[in-house]
Order: sequence, then C-alpha cells, then structure tokens
Amino acid sequence: MKLSYWYISLLPPGVFGLSGWPMGGTIVAGNAVQFDRETWEANLAHPNTTGYNSVVGFDVSKPWPSTQVDGWHLSINVTGDIPDSQAMNPSNATGKAFTGTSIFLQAPEYLRATFSDQDTIDETTWKICVIVIPNAPQENVTGAESSTCAILSSQCVSDLQQAYAERFPRNQDCYGTPPSTPSSCGDTINTGNFNVQQLPLDSISGKEVFVTASDPHDPNDERALSEAAQKTWPVLTIWGWNMRANASDDAAPTVQLSCISARDVEPGSESPPSASSRRCGSAAAAFIAACMAAYVFL
Ligand SMILES: *[C@@H]1O[C@H](CO)[C@@H](O)[C@H](O)[C@H]1NC(C)=O
Ligand SMILES: *[C@@H]1O[C@H](CO)[C@@H](O)[C@H](O)[C@H]1NC(C)=O
Ligand SMILES: *[C@@H]1O[C@H](CO)[C@@H](O)[C@H](O)[C@H]1NC(C)=O
Ligand SMILES: *[C@@H]1O[C@H](CO)[C@@H](O)[C@H](O)[C@H]1NC(C)=O
Ligand SMILES: *[C@@H]1O[C@H](CO)[C@@H](O)[C@H](O)[C@H]1NC(C)=O
Repeated sequence: MKLSYWYISLLPPGVFGLSGWPMGGTIVAGNAVQFDRETWEANLAHPNTTGYNSVVGFDVSKPWPSTQVDGWHLSINVTGDIPDSQAMNPSNATGKAFTGTSIFLQAPEYLRATFSDQDTIDETTWKICVIVIPNAPQENVTGAESSTCAILSSQCVSDLQQAYAERFPRNQDCYGTPPSTPSSCGDTINTGNFNVQQLPLDSISGKEVFVTASDPHDPNDERALSEAAQKTWPVLTIWGWNMRANASDDAAPTVQLSCISARDVEPGSESPPSASSRRCGSAAAAFIAACMAAYVFL
C-alpha cells in the first residue's frame, strides 16, 4: 500500500487517472470531469466559436536551443450545447446542457509529427510547459485587445514572464511551487491558482492542454455560450530543456504570456452578443447603438 501511495504522489498533476481522462496530459477543470475524452472531443470538434493566436515557438525537431520558427499557436474551441445525457453518468441527466471550452498549443503543420514515435520523446532535450490562468480579470475588450492581453498591465505581463523564467530554469520541472504573484499584477490574479501542465510532447499534434465546462444550463442558453466566448484566457508558454540538453546554468528558458478568446463565430452558428461586439469595433457609427444594446443585454 505504502509503495503505491508514493508512486501516485510522484506523478505530476494532471496524471491523476481521472476516470474519463485516463492518460493525463490535459488539465481538466470545472464540469469537464463529467465527460470522457472521447465524448468531449466529438463535441468540441464542432464548435460554435473559436479563437487563434500566434505564439513564439521553436523548431523542436532539433535539439534545444534550436531556432525560433513561425506557426506555433494557441487555439480554443467552444461548444455551447453538450447534453448532460452524454456525461459519464447519464443516470444523473436532467435535460440540461454544458458549454465546453478546449485550449490547445499546436505546432506548425510540419512539426506536428515530431514526437509521434517514442524514441524521439525518449531522446528529446526539450521541456515545454503551459500555464493557463483561469481567474484573470474579465473586461469588455475587443477581440484585438483580448489577444494582446490588454486585461493585464504590460508591467504585470513582463513581471510574470520574468518570474516564471527564474522559477523554472535548468532541469526544473514546472510542478514546483509557483513564483509569487508580482505586485504589478495587483490582487486580481494569484499564481497559486494557475493551472500548470508540463506538456506531453506528443500533445503538440493537437491534444487539449486545458478543458473546462460551465455549470449546467438550459439547452440553447445563449448567455452561457456568450460568456464562454467572451472570456479571455491568459496562457504562459515556457520553452525549456531537460537534463539531456547539458545546458549551461546561466541559460534562461523562453517564457511568453499570450491571450486567447473564442470570439470567431463558426459558419452555421449564430453570433452570441459578445461575438458581435468584435464587429462593432469596425462597424459604421449607425450600428454602434445596436452594439451597445447587445452589451446591455449581456
Ligand atoms: C476546433 O474547431 C475547428 C473549427 O471548426 C475544427 O476544425 C477543429 O478540428 C477543432 N479542433 C478539435 C481538436 O476538435
Ligand atoms: C450522480 O449522482 C450520484 C448519486 O446521486 C452522485 O453521487 C454523483 O456525484 C453524481 N455524479 C455526477 C457526475 O454528478
Ligand atoms: C461591460 O459593459 C457593460 C455595459 O456597458 C457593463 O454593464 C459592465 O459592467 C462591463 N463589464 C466590465 C467587466 O467592465
Ligand atoms: C550531454 O553530455 C553527455 C555526456 O557528456 C553526452 O553523452 C551527450 O551527448 C550530451 N548531450 C548533448 C545534447 O549535447
Ligand atoms: C452551436 O453549434 C451547433 C452545431 O454545430 C448548432 O446546432 C447550434 O445552433 C449552435 N448554437 C448557436 C447558439 O449558434
């Protein structure tokens, strides 16, 4: 018994063997625990709204430190009506639905298969960590503002990046005690609540980094979808290395804070009120009154 206790406690967070998400590798938050991965993915493959933001990334097919390459991005899918009858325990179903959110860190197409064989994973010198900030302040911002993280001050953003680079250098895995919250971030966020995932490297092909679901709501509840589509998610990506890299002690990992939100409405879905606010930014003055009405409706 003792042995298995220690074994389990040594597994990184996220590898708890949640019944629906047995392989770990994904931060499972909120009511997403009610679903299994397969059902979840089938629903999130047909989202109502999506988002995409480029991030700094590296050519991971070459050993660390390699070179920076374009094409790495965060993406997000939001699906509004996941019936509770599809939850793992359908006997609890009452006809309600959940709104689900999945966040991905994806490599450019030509790098997605880099870690598809075990030998490459066993030999890699890379360590990639993703930290999702679940409790960032939410404000009325345009799509453009949300992707530049305007909800956090630029000082807070750079202090957070610096703090994480200093806290997780060298071979340090990303599950240790987080750095304290920089004072420039005020008390709106708390690093102790951030969700950390040291990425299983084969996740860069498109596996979820983070999933969450709303509270149960009536089916077709536009408000739940609108809230999920409007939410801005700050995400820290850390490009570090492991023991095999033989890196010098003064090398620093590359840390970037980026933001995404799922404001792009998929063909066939209606614009939730929040998504129309994005178009309001560029709309003619005549429409602005209508846009404000949409906000008030929220
Ligand atoms: C996310 O949504 C897009 C747009 O509909 C879809 O093409 C993609 O396959 C979805 N991603 C996943 C992992 O299901
Ligand atoms: C389903 O109902 C059972 C019995 O009431 C309860 O123990 C369980 O937590 C519920 N499961 C979910 C996923 O809500
Ligand atoms: C967003 O705008 C609405 C309407 O203008 C306002 O009522 C609400 O308080 C604002 N929310 C935030 C977080 O600023
Ligand atoms: C790291 O050092 C070991 C022992 O000196 C060597 O075998 C290995 O090839 C080095 N790895 C890299 C990536 O340079
Ligand atoms: C969300 O998408 C589903 C199927 O893709 C569609 O049936 C539903 O009407 C959409 N919801 C909204 C509010 O557009």
